[in-house]
Amino acid sequence: MEVLGVDIGGSGIKGAIVDTAEGRFASERLRIETPQPSKPAAVAAVVGEISAHFNWRSAIGCTFPAVVKRGVAMTAANVDSAWIGTDAKRLLESETGNPVIVLNDADAAGIAEMRYGAGRDRDGLVAILTLGTGIGSSLFIDGRLAPNTELGHLIIRGKDAEERATDRARQERGYSWKQWGKRVSEYLEYLESLITPDLFIIGGGVSKRYQKFFPYIKCKTAIAPAQLRNRAGIVGAAAAAIDLL
Ligand code: BGC
Repeated sequence: MEVLGVDIGGSGIKGAIVDTAEGRFASERLRIETPQPSKPAAVAAVVGEISAHFNWRSAIGCTFPAVVKRGVAMTAANVDSAWIGTDAKRLLESETGNPVIVLNDADAAGIAEMRYGAGRDRDGLVAILTLGTGIGSSLFIDGRLAPNTELGHLIIRGKDAEERATDRARQERGYSWKQWGKRVSEYLEYLESLITPDLFIIGGGVSKRYQKFFPYIKCKTAIAPAQLRNRAGIVGAAAAAIDLL
């Protein structure tokens, strides 16, 4: 079954048609810069443009980089604060004319990894962390998602973990892989002391360079790089939207 997946991020909004049986793209990926400021109407217009580009007339699964409950954005760490309280589902449905499901971006990435990637057939407690502009988290217990966990905002050494362990922090602060890997390790060690997972899956675009920083990670929990990398959001959002069809 084919579903349009859209991934709304702080810097880019990406869309592709997804073959949900295989968890693969069934079209090229279209990327459009996130409007700045990233206010609801401007972002929704870009999602409308993506839907129109694919001439789409069916379900859309769409990620959003914040807490989303019943389609409503509840927080806005890396997007314009005007989103807080916005019914994103309703807005995107009226913009695209299609049924839309909206979910947290890390939850979407987690769904993709559990169905098609590094978490396939893994039971117990699996934590997927995406290290990008922010830190996204998703938790699965025996394959079932506990949504909107926001474990990226744990406080480490008096600071939000996002200021130390995101790929953005690595680039902005010029950390070496070793310096950054140690910060990621500290974050994971703290997290494992709180939730004792069976597996960590590390996602986000930087996960393709996992060999550079995994050697510095000292946590006891098994750790695996994400397999869908920066496709995970689009693929997971599309998989989550199947119920709309
Ligand atoms: C947000 C999360 C989001 C993550 C990744 C965090 O700043 O609070 O909701 O999943 O960034 O985009």
